[in-house]
Amino acid sequence: MARGASHGRGSRRSYVLSATGVTIPISRPFLGEEELAAVQEPLRDGWVVQGPRVAEFEAKFSEFTGAAHSIAVTSCTTALQIAVAALGTRPGDEVIVPSFTWVSTANVVELMGARAVFCDVELDSFNLDVSALEAAVTEATVGVIPVHLFGLPADMTAVNEVATRHGLWVVEDAACAFGTKTPEGHAGTLSKAGCFSFHPRKSITTGEGGMITTDDGEFAALARSLRDHGASISDHARHNQKGSFKLADYEHLGFNYRMTDIQGALGSVQMDRAGWILSERTRQAEFYDQALADLEWLRTPKVPAGVTHGWQAYVCLYAPQEPSLANVERLGEARNALMAALEEAGIATRPGTHAPVLTKLYRERNGFGLDDFPQARMAEALSLALPLYAGLPDEALTRVAEALHRLGP
Ligand SMILES: Cc1ncc(COP(=O)(O)O)c(C=O)c1O
Repeated sequence: MARGASHGRGSRRSYVLSATGVTIPISRPFLGEEELAAVQEPLRDGWVVQGPRVAEFEAKFSEFTGAAHSIAVTSCTTALQIAVAALGTRPGDEVIVPSFTWVSTANVVELMGARAVFCDVELDSFNLDVSALEAAVTEATVGVIPVHLFGLPADMTAVNEVATRHGLWVVEDAACAFGTKTPEGHAGTLSKAGCFSFHPRKSITTGEGGMITTDDGEFAALARSLRDHGASISDHARHNQKGSFKLADYEHLGFNYRMTDIQGALGSVQMDRAGWILSERTRQAEFYDQALADLEWLRTPKVPAGVTHGWQAYVCLYAPQEPSLANVERLGEARNALMAALEEAGIATRPGTHAPVLTKLYRERNGFGLDDFPQARMAEALSLALPLYAGLPDEALTRVAEALHRLGP
């Protein structure tokens, strides 16, 4: 795909921001003429449910990540749910998940009737703390779901070592990890399965959408069946063979988590842009690294040697003092005041993500106190994501950096 023709114009129309006065959004999908053309194809030929465009998207995804199998679904949440179901998770089981992640990492475990056991994260990487992981293992533990938060890989060598020692399965929550690479391979290919998100805040989007990656052929076949009610054959395959009137058999207790071919068409074109999108995000992250280096109160993301950050988000830590449980409330208020001032200046920011352990649901289910997961509490209160997306003009990056210098403590 020629660079100039393809990437010159993303979608321009502003449809969500008028009420806030924000002129620099936190994120925005890059959708151009190719996407507009691609989504029309299934509408024209009438095959709109999971079919050849989803298969094409899956093939491109496998090629990009190096996974042997890719299975497209409706979201990362449903990808995770299929993965934990395929692994036979059941009531009485415990699955370890980080304390700072999107709530679905934990919810998919609880939805199987099993228990999500939280382990705290590290404040400097926002990823799971491996010593806390080890401490959370009990007789009932069956698996662990590390998260590559914001596109920075979790320490999979250490996670896999703990898991092997205790006989646990590992599924990566790679929602944010498109383009995230380690010396051992692309994130999401470093365990039994990886689960990706194509929500518009991720680097490539299908509106909503997700992908399961795995190198295990049997697991892949089961995941394909589970996304489609447990069917023995997909609709598209059945319609394209003699005897198409014969219905599939249903071998498993499945879901309907199929991606539509309209989304598949979109995802396929987004894959053609992926290299450019990721390089733009990296360039912007490098700009922030340099432009914000002199701000002592702001800890910018650190990337270990040998690792390629996927830059789903550029998430800093607001730390005018060393954060602790004693000052987190006060510092959190100051961060919010800064975010409000940035919003006044037309610049959207967000916390990195939330801490499920601080949600009403998990506090009430588990009787958690506010301070039970100190790093998660500080991460939720003090993380600060800055605008970053392919198509964000350089002047906007400069404006964000200037505003942080002007409005910071
Ligand atoms: C770490 C993490 N896991 C899971 C999800 C859920 O992804 P989806 O919205 O595609 O279900 C997200 C989405 O933000 C996420 O950030």
